[in-house]
Amino acid sequence: MASSSDTKQKQLPLKPIPGSYGLPFFGPIGDRHDYFYHQGRDAFFATRIKKNNSTVFRTNMPPGPFISSDPRVVALLDGASFPILFDNDKVEKRNVLDGTFMPTTSFTGGHRVCAYLDTAEPQHAALKRFFLGFLLSRKDTFVPLFRTTLSETFIEIEDQLSRKTGTAGFNDVFATASFNFMFRLLCDNKDPSETKLGSEGPKLFDTWLLFQLAPLATLGPPKIFNYLEDILLRTIPFPSWFTSSGYKKLYEAFSTSAVKVLDEAEQAGLKRSEACHNLVFMAGFNAYGGLKNQFPVVIKWVGLGGKKLHEELASEIRSVVKEEGGVTIQSLEKMSLLKSVVYEVLRIEPTVPYQYAKAREDLVIHSHDASFEVKKGEMLFGFQPFATKDPRIFDDPEEFLPRRFEGEGEKLLKHVLWGNGKETEEPSPGNKQCAGRNLVVLMCRLFLVEFFLRYDTFEFEFKSSAFGPAVTIKSLTKASTL
Ligand code: HEM
Repeated sequence: MASSSDTKQKQLPLKPIPGSYGLPFFGPIGDRHDYFYHQGRDAFFATRIKKNNSTVFRTNMPPGPFISSDPRVVALLDGASFPILFDNDKVEKRNVLDGTFMPTTSFTGGHRVCAYLDTAEPQHAALKRFFLGFLLSRKDTFVPLFRTTLSETFIEIEDQLSRKTGTAGFNDVFATASFNFMFRLLCDNKDPSETKLGSEGPKLFDTWLLFQLAPLATLGPPKIFNYLEDILLRTIPFPSWFTSSGYKKLYEAFSTSAVKVLDEAEQAGLKRSEACHNLVFMAGFNAYGGLKNQFPVVIKWVGLGGKKLHEELASEIRSVVKEEGGVTIQSLEKMSLLKSVVYEVLRIEPTVPYQYAKAREDLVIHSHDASFEVKKGEMLFGFQPFATKDPRIFDDPEEFLPRRFEGEGEKLLKHVLWGNGKETEEPSPGNKQCAGRNLVVLMCRLFLVEFFLRYDTFEFEFKSSAFGPAVTIKSLTKASTL
């Protein structure tokens, strides 16, 4: 039986997809200059929605010539059309992790790692099953391990605050925490400082990530240098040899320390070296790359929420911890404001905002207002903040409403999409949803729990950058109650 939303979709008028790609070469270059320099990311999309009078339209996406051979996409900028990107029967996710280009596999030891594989490739299911199995088998260690890591970070932040400058750089401290947590999780609680990496791990991953993702970034240079930056970052792909010695160090550290996980991978039928390159990619690109930007986003929005929100969070967290006798996965489940706050952060500012997929077959996609035909092989592109801030789905979508997902609001969770899937669905070997989905939600909750067990409130400032907010903590007020 067709659902009412299916029937509604079938009644939508079929329209040609508006928008144009412009002249070869000049169209993509013009679009990317608009995107990085003339308009900026959000205005780039907003002006095109207005011009085309449609949330689905054709445009080019960076990097364009000469790094991507075909920058043409069909943009999906509403919450109705966006979820087609998760329908793996209809779309293909082969080599599209970074969009219309893929960095050379020399960055990953010559392997196409899991995140670049499509669900129709058998190796995807094999690797994803291995990751999901690993995470499930270590689930009891998540809470104690991350709490230990968090205590180190809060000590460091307090140390920085007590020094001359009287401020603490949140991002670097939490980047190190994200790295240490992932390393300890994968390497049986071994600390990276006990390996040849010393304290270098986060910096090595940062450089390795930067060389892969540079074509998608701008450092926001003064206007006269815009064209120079554009030519330097987007004319030819960066070779991997700039980062190969750093990558080798990381690979060696994981290879010699993640012995048990790699044994398990071999037992599951994977080749040891392929599993290890996949492990490094998951730890460094998927997990570290996501988490190091996630915590600044959480603290920014909770900070902007103000003192009243801090009081309410502290009160809920402290009373549940008291009643339950400690911080456990079960006790976190009882903190309804905390849960809603974390989902609201993930909705309002998803850390990985771009998703791409190619039509496996001729398709019809639906916005709220119309249907559109897409041909097999065409690239679909979703800019997630426009889907999760869709005013036809969320009231006051630009507002941070801490209690949005409490009670009846839970029904809206199917429109929270940060992990490349609906928040009401689970990652599996058959889909492309983030394998760390539940772990990330847990870590964001635990971060706030530990924070508000220690402190009543805080002062901060932030600067927006291409990679998310850069947060400085200016003061922490110690908890006045237990
Ligand atoms: C805040 C942190 C994180 C964010 C925002 C994030 C987001 C995402 C997104 C958007 C994707 C899909 C990319 C695409 O195909 O378009 C993805 C895939 C993936 N993530 Fe995460 N992730 C995070 C943390 C983690 C962690 C902690 C792990 C593992 C412990 C992890 C493991 C993976 C894996 C293995 C994939 C590939 C899934 C597949 O190919 O089927 N991620 N993640």
